[in-house]
Amino acid sequence: MQEELKAIQEEALATLEQINDMKELQALKVAYLGKKGSLTQVLRGMGKLSPEERPVVGEIVNQVREAITKAIDEKSDLLEKAALEEKLKEESIDVTLPGRPVKVGGPHLLTKVIEEIEDLFIGMGYEVREGPEVETDYFNFEALNLPKNHPARDMQDSFYITNELLLRTHTSPVQARTMREYKGEKGFKMICPGKVYRRDTDDATHSHQFTQIEGLYVDKDVKMSDLKGVLNIFAKKMFGEDRNIRLRPSFFPFTEPSVEMDISCKVCHGEGCSVCKGTGWIEILGAGMVHPNVLEMGGYDPKVYSGFAFGMGPERIAMLKYGVSDIRQFYLNDNRFLKQFHQA
Ligand code: DAH
Repeated sequence: MQEELKAIQEEALATLEQINDMKELQALKVAYLGKKGSLTQVLRGMGKLSPEERPVVGEIVNQVREAITKAIDEKSDLLEKAALEEKLKEESIDVTLPGRPVKVGGPHLLTKVIEEIEDLFIGMGYEVREGPEVETDYFNFEALNLPKNHPARDMQDSFYITNELLLRTHTSPVQARTMREYKGEKGFKMICPGKVYRRDTDDATHSHQFTQIEGLYVDKDVKMSDLKGVLNIFAKKMFGEDRNIRLRPSFFPFTEPSVEMDISCKVCHGEGCSVCKGTGWIEILGAGMVHPNVLEMGGYDPKVYSGFAFGMGPERIAMLKYGVSDIRQFYLNDNRFLKQFHQA
């Protein structure tokens, strides 16, 4: 019996060596120390022993049980420690790893150009105004010297909502609205950026919705030379000090005289090349001296006050400045296009 016990101990310890997880360890514990375990089986046979043998064997059984229990406990500690270490390893954070880059957005190219133009004019004392995109026929046309049936209304195919309401075709109505607000009492300088709408078919240079920036300076003694001076500063700050401007006679119902402003071509500096189609100049905006009728309808006495106005398209300016060849790019929201200008 003693031999049997020794064999059990040896076998148990040898098996224990091979064990690598808690489940197997638990099974081993049951197999040797459990109710139906091998050691218990031996104990059951103790009844057959003589009274002298019993305490001796009993002690050996206890020793064996203790040895196995101790070994199991030690193994259990070991496995627990290993499991903890494994877990810590899994959960550890390598603080030296580079971080995941955060995607940083940026203003839309049009927003940037509009804000740049705003800053420029704010610096020259202009206030920035807004006006409604759904405009009355009166402010969009009549107050700008375009009475009903005026042929120049054909220049702008409009989105009408009712007979009297339309999506504004330009930002010029804000000229009339601002004059009304100042009640003909004092001079002012304002610009107005905003969306405008026309019944155009979209292509590389046309969009049914685009933006404009209107400018208006009304005061006593405002002259054409003032207009030229402001436009010259604008062109040089926007496109570069080496660029020149020229004013060409033109026609707008709300200005008299009217002009169109060109800037010298950045590629050939006025010599003529393919970019400027051989002319040496690139058209930028329309402008002129505010028509006396417009001043009068705005509540200003044209004998006392005069003014100049201009209107430009930020898309066109952005296209020229950043080499964008298709106006639709501004409205497609293609991030591959937009993100090029985040740092520009
Ligand atoms: N309103 C004109 C347009 O939409 C642009 C314009 C031209 C505005 C001359 C002006 C101006 O204020 O003086 O084409």
